[in-house]
Amino acid sequence: MQSPTISLNDGRAIPQLGLGVWQIPNDETTAVVRAALDVGYRSIDTAALYHNEEGVGRAVREGGVPRDELFVTTKLWQDRHDDAERAFDESLRRLGLDYVDLYLIHWPAPGQNRYVEAWRSLVRLRESGRARSVGVSNFNVDHLERIIDATGVVPAVNQVELHPRFQQRALRAFHEQRGIATESWSPLGQGGVLRDPTVGEIARRHGRTPAQVVIRWHLDSGLVVIPKSVHAKRLRENFASLDFRLGEDDMRRIEGLDRRDGRMGLDPATFG
Ligand SMILES: NC(=O)c1ccc[n+]([C@@H]2O[C@H](COP(=O)([O-])OP(=O)(O)OC[C@H]3O[C@@H](n4cnc5c(N)ncnc54)[C@H](OP(=O)(O)O)[C@@H]3O)[C@@H](O)[C@H]2O)c1
Repeated sequence: MQSPTISLNDGRAIPQLGLGVWQIPNDETTAVVRAALDVGYRSIDTAALYHNEEGVGRAVREGGVPRDELFVTTKLWQDRHDDAERAFDESLRRLGLDYVDLYLIHWPAPGQNRYVEAWRSLVRLRESGRARSVGVSNFNVDHLERIIDATGVVPAVNQVELHPRFQQRALRAFHEQRGIATESWSPLGQGGVLRDPTVGEIARRHGRTPAQVVIRWHLDSGLVVIPKSVHAKRLRENFASLDFRLGEDDMRRIEGLDRRDGRMGLDPATFG
């Protein structure tokens, strides 16, 4: 089984299903990523903040999959918005790679008001070829409009909190207009969404697990999705979301789980 890809606005493509590695300690990350590569994952999402780029890089270099078949994402933390090119070099060094497939501004941190400067640096990194694609994370519409107006460059991706209880409909509509791919972080609601009775009922009817139903909902919604697990069994279970489909009615019922107060993480309008 192979993940389908989503086309990006810069002519490149990203695997639709990947692995997130937030909260995995560096010394455990290589084994988890290698297990994921064995299952068939080809996209790994890390960040400078996760302190496990070294572990990711070792798995990428030693995992036996050609580098050009892998998609590696890392992110710029907000203490380096004014120094993004050097921060990027440090990430590359920790990864032990000579390019990444996607480099993201992790948060806009509007209180610092330096994300436009950071975006200009990412555009230069893309021009240098060392970041094949560039994008952002946790950007609201006003943050996106500001960087696009300032540079004329539309981010390839916006990675945001997105799961059945927090579906980000207005932001997704804006992404669609501007050709930005939406990538869902905490796609399983950090595990919480898996206990939802509607998800459970749909899972039973399909003979699937709640995690598979939720991942399938992301895939069928056209989203890029990066569930995290440290367990080989769950890595396999999550990857096996690729081989079934939900019905129209299942999709509508999961869409009905959206909540105004469903956000679990920080609010980009006020964080930083
Ligand atoms: N850009 C950002 O600001 C941002 C913020 C948050 C996250 N992210 C990215 O998004 C990725 C995913 O988000 P996340 O790690 O917050 O949460 P998540 O993927 O929604 O959920 C992960 C949790 O679900 C559990 N889990 C995974 N598969 C399962 C299954 N099949 N059955 C039952 N439980 C399962 C995991 O436990 P086990 O590991 O024990 O299996 C873990 O506790 C992160 O790793 C990171 O790469 C980005």
